[in-house]
Amino acid sequence: MCGIIGYIGNRQVSNVLINGLKRLEYRGYDSAGLCILENGNLEILKKAGKVYELEKLINHQQYTSTIGIAHTRWATHGEPNDINAHPHTDCNSKIAIVHNGIIENYFSIKKQLQAKGFTFKSETDTEVLAVLIGAIYEKCQNLEIAVRTALSEVTGTFGLLVLSSYEPDKIIAARRGSPLVLGISKNEFIISSDATAIIQYTSQVVYLSDNEIAIVTNNQFTTKTMNNQETKSIIHKLDLNLEQLEKNGFEHFMLKEIYEQPNTLNDAFRGRLLVDEGTIKLGGLRSVYDKFRNVRRLILTACGTSWHSALVGEYLIEHLAQIPVEVEYASEFRYRNPIIYPDDIVIAISQSGETADTLAAVNEAKNKGATVLGIVNVVGSSIARATDAGIYIHAGPEIGVASTKAFTSQLAVLTMLAIMLGRMRNLSAIEAKKIINELANIPDKLKKILENAEHIKAIAKKYCKSSNFLYLGRGYNFPVALEGALKLKEISYIHAEGYPAAEMKHGPIALIDENMPVVFIATQDEIYEKILSNIEEVRARKGKVIAIATEEDEVIKNYANELIYIPKTLPMLTPILAVVPLQLMAYYISVELGCNVDQPRNLAKSVTVE
Ligand code: M6R
Repeated sequence: MCGIIGYIGNRQVSNVLINGLKRLEYRGYDSAGLCILENGNLEILKKAGKVYELEKLINHQQYTSTIGIAHTRWATHGEPNDINAHPHTDCNSKIAIVHNGIIENYFSIKKQLQAKGFTFKSETDTEVLAVLIGAIYEKCQNLEIAVRTALSEVTGTFGLLVLSSYEPDKIIAARRGSPLVLGISKNEFIISSDATAIIQYTSQVVYLSDNEIAIVTNNQFTTKTMNNQETKSIIHKLDLNLEQLEKNGFEHFMLKEIYEQPNTLNDAFRGRLLVDEGTIKLGGLRSVYDKFRNVRRLILTACGTSWHSALVGEYLIEHLAQIPVEVEYASEFRYRNPIIYPDDIVIAISQSGETADTLAAVNEAKNKGATVLGIVNVVGSSIARATDAGIYIHAGPEIGVASTKAFTSQLAVLTMLAIMLGRMRNLSAIEAKKIINELANIPDKLKKILENAEHIKAIAKKYCKSSNFLYLGRGYNFPVALEGALKLKEISYIHAEGYPAAEMKHGPIALIDENMPVVFIATQDEIYEKILSNIEEVRARKGKVIAIATEEDEVIKNYANELIYIPKTLPMLTPILAVVPLQLMAYYISVELGCNVDQPRNLAKSVTVE
């Protein structure tokens, strides 16, 4: 969580920082702040609330500075108020830092510093680090040494930027566990938590590695280990453009991203569907083909929406490739000493590639000797770089906190992976061709669902005042039910539960009365009759049924209060289509209730803390 940005160059820095914070705001929006070096002194402005509040503070100031650091916060330690907002400073207000991550041993360090007479203004772990750096600086009088020494004493994670009036010509950046990207342009550098704040200035970037520190001045940068050994930096070119970061006429990023799905699916398929050969080409996995031939078990690990796509992946891979699959919450996997065999393959799924729990699960699996792969959206992200090989989903930047296009692209990639694995085993070319052909039709079918948005909006209006929702599905549609419920609760704050439809009678059925909308994903597959029985059970208790059904299904009309048709497809591909009405319904309910769709309360896009 949290977004940080630093700039050193020849532009008026407050504008650069504010623009950068706006790009990073999706990472956290509890407070925002900046520190610039104006006439040799540190000027700090910070404010609870969105970047907009900070911008209002700056508007009447005439700054000339060309060096500064800034932060947008997702609160961990201390409530989101002005005092806890970053930047934080040492006791002399000569050293300022912005920090993404958590200093785990902050409490004991704080006690030691307090015993020596140092005082604190905020409740944050970050201020402890600032004061520690200041305390060390008093002895060594060298900012870089002070930063490196302080970082050797802390445990936890950090993406950190340091600015000081003692050494006003530089910004020091350091990374452990939280991402940092250094943008390189002529006589200017931008350092940020992610590339979205950099692309406006340059497409040349260096990704800092864990335990790396960068010393950046006006015309050069040096990277080192924390032990002062110089490291070699590889310059990468960003595959990103500004237009991808704009709303382009849509009211919200979430809506734009929902509507992008026909294109993002085509991007995920591009060059990978070998229809004539009845197979799939996933270039990123070439180096591990042999491992796949001998794999005994796959473990899919992820969080949130990505975990839901892992569940669909389990069904797909077991169905098409007959390889046992386990799906693990990354946050549980990392702490329960999982049994991993050398011929297991662990696949981490993550949109951002920065989720702390998923990254830790990757490291845990690597330590235990597994081959670890990634299914990731953000190119060059920590998970993409930490894994042995992987598949990019190519969905482009996803800015809305609620994941939409990343989910459908993850499903597309998992389907392709399952087909590829199936073809290495018993899946016939004829069967594979049938699935691949249908996969290629999915983007056009998804377009048809989007054309029905007004109907979904009307349903959203009708039910938006409900306090609870149930989402039920079976088989491939069970994870879709979970995802539909997650979408609704995160952006509308309405309580929603996803359940396997048949499990309803083991408990949740007690919740059903005339005020409970129940969303059934009731598409025509081999268990269609069973789900009709589950619908009957809800109707018998006066629940209101909203059914996602297969087009031309006349029978369902007798069962549902509201009906949303989706085009017919193979049951295994249904989740890619069935989730779209649920995304739209959640979106319209959120808008109807006046919620902040793209930046829902308490959430952030990348969860880079445990
Ligand atoms: O970037 P990741 O896919 O690793 O993120 C995982 C979850 O934090 C994420 O899917 C979250 O649940 C979304 N807000 C869901 O819309």
